Amino acid sequence: MADGSWYDADIDRVIISEEQIREKTEELAKQVAADYADAEGGILLVCVLKGAVMFMADFARALGRQGPPCEMEFMAVSSYGSGTTSSGVVRILKDLDSDISGRHVVIVEDIVDSGLTLSWLMRYLKSRAPESVEVVALFRKPEAVKVPVPTKYVGFDIPSEFVVGYGLDFAERYRELPYVGVLKPEVYARS
Ligand code: XMP
Ligand code: MG
Repeated sequence: MADGSWYDADIDRVIISEEQIREKTEELAKQVAADYADAEGGILLVCVLKGAVMFMADFARALGRQGPPCEMEFMAVSSYGSGTTSSGVVRILKDLDSDISGRHVVIVEDIVDSGLTLSWLMRYLKSRAPESVEVVALFRKPEAVKVPVPTKYVGFDIPSEFVVGYGLDFAERYRELPYVGVLKPEVYARS
């Protein structure tokens, strides 16, 4: 357990440590840097808020150390549906600020669960005539295979449990934890 965090007592177990995240992020950035070494105009990273914010910041810096140049865009979407499952009906809360036509787009995602959000987002971005669209997702759950989303770069396959930390929240909390963990059942019961 990481020391001293306000929230550590709420975590049942850590499934991915801060160190594992750091190493994996470097590895993913290395792969992307190699694949896009000759990409005309560099890479346009599209971060999906809010969950991917930590990963975006760390991934972009890792990529920056290995080139090619990248630009950053942020989108916020909400999947209609109750509680912790997504329905596939997606609403845009914050759209892109710039034209992505002709660009090499890499979607930066925190976690692919059912895959519904991501498959919608892929279609949406492709409709804007980018040169290419790929996905880098730090986590993927087994459920994701049900909706086939071509997620080219995946950090960790994790069990189908609700996890928090490193950007992922429960009721907007726990995002600042540097690791990813499973909450104790009594935390859900409290809310
Ligand atoms: P789908 O099912 O459409 O959903 O792939 C992906 C989005 O759902 C959220 N999500 C989670 N958020 N802990 C979280 O804090 C989780 O275990 C979890 N699983 C899915 C997340 O926003 C993701 O982008
Ligand atoms: Mg997300």
